[in-house]
Amino acid sequence: MEKENIIRPSLLSADFSFLNDEIEDMIKHNIKSIHFDVMDGSFVSQISFGQPIFKSIYSRFKNKINFDVHLMTLNPIKQVKQFIDIGSRDITFHYEVFDNYQDYISLKNEYPDLKLGLAFSPDTEVEKILPSLPLFDNVLVMSVVPGKGGQPYIEGSEKKVRKLNEYRKERNLNFKIIVDGGINEKTGPLCLLNGADHLVCGSYYFKAADKDKAIDDIYNNFVRVQHGNY
Ligand code: DX5
Ligand code: ZN
Repeated sequence: MEKENIIRPSLLSADFSFLNDEIEDMIKHNIKSIHFDVMDGSFVSQISFGQPIFKSIYSRFKNKINFDVHLMTLNPIKQVKQFIDIGSRDITFHYEVFDNYQDYISLKNEYPDLKLGLAFSPDTEVEKILPSLPLFDNVLVMSVVPGKGGQPYIEGSEKKVRKLNEYRKERNLNFKIIVDGGINEKTGPLCLLNGADHLVCGSYYFKAADKDKAIDDIYNNFVRVQHGNY
């Protein structure tokens, strides 16, 4: 487990007036993937950013860093196609608006390198999403109500991570487990211990005066707990 590959900073908490510098800085800190939160004002009440901003940052930075797109939108299939056209190959949308398996399967056939993720909100029981998981490359456990950054982690979200990890092992599946919302040096290690592969960090990462330390703290606390001395 490479520590810089665990953390996926959410651009939503970056300073948009210095977007270029913020991304350059993540590259300097050896971050492997940036989480891009798209909010449509309907599925969630806020509107964040969309295709035009993604297009300019993607074309500028695509050779230096990866992007994963989290669609908090009511009708994601439209946006999935538009983000694919821009170049994105890592896109997640919500179980709560997911109804047509066929559309997604045909996209995977058309774009074999496309990684699709299924996100689910805190009110959705983890058992509901399990049968869909063989179709997906990623599952995004929302540990806050989707809609904004800076909210506290919903306690017990790590139990969903544990269940997903058990299901993955039982069925011999390969999807990655990503946790999104309220991640910090305490909640992050808890999720890793329960089987998470990646952690989306918005406010914790961008507010940190020392980014290397913020990344190290999550990783070191995880390693410490794993060895039984916290
Ligand atoms: C919430 C977004 C998250 C959010 C995370 O709707 O999906 O990605 O930006 O921010 P923090 O880490 O501050 O909870
Ligand atoms: Zn997100």
